Amino acid sequence: MESTPAVRLRPMQVDDLDTVVALETQLFETPWDRLRFRRSLERQQPAWVALSNAPQQDETPVGYLVASSGAGVADLLTIGVSPQCQRSGIAAQLLAQLLTQLQSQQVQELFLEVRASNEAAIGFYRAKGFEQVGVRRNYYRRPATPDEAEGREDGLLFKRELTQS
Ligand SMILES: CC(C)(COP(=O)(O)OP(=O)(O)OC[C@H]1O[C@@H](n2cnc3c(N)ncnc32)[C@H](O)[C@@H]1OP(=O)(O)O)[C@@H](O)C(=O)NCCC(=O)NCCS
Repeated sequence: MESTPAVRLRPMQVDDLDTVVALETQLFETPWDRLRFRRSLERQQPAWVALSNAPQQDETPVGYLVASSGAGVADLLTIGVSPQCQRSGIAAQLLAQLLTQLQSQQVQELFLEVRASNEAAIGFYRAKGFEQVGVRRNYYRRPATPDEAEGREDGLLFKRELTQS
């Protein structure tokens, strides 16, 4: 018997942006601002949110994803899951939804970039069939920490081929 997914997905709406921007700010060192999310929505780029299926939960997103696509190629621009909800398959569901949408648009390749230090995301992408295809040296700014001065870090470029049905 199949288990019920922990979340349901729907396209991102402007009304989601307060929560999505708050999550993005919590999850990323250099987060997207509201305007960037708005522009993606205005351009009707792929953008999804995950809503909890738990009883008494409201419509507050616990995960989200934004991509851009065109000319047979797509980029996964940002993806995040609330820290309390991570490791329960939510990002996997969001990615599967994106892949279905891109396949219907005849997209053949999906690219993304990730900080070299982001082990969780790299683990996720490798588990989901992405392979590393390049490195952008010193691509990201790395904010100062109590132990280290501000610096730069590499961006790793990953790609996944999409099969067409
Ligand atoms: C990366 C991220 C989106 C993954 O979301 P998630 O919902 O926890 O991922 P899932 O539960 O769908 O994980 C699916 C599989 O990916 C891999 N994976 C996920 N998180 C991992 C981690 N921290 N370390 C290693 N592998 C991981 C595992 O194989 C996992 O399957 P398993 O739990 O059965 O072992 C989440 O960690 C996050 O929001 N990180 C902060 C934002 C971010 O860095 N986004 C990516 C920017 S490029």
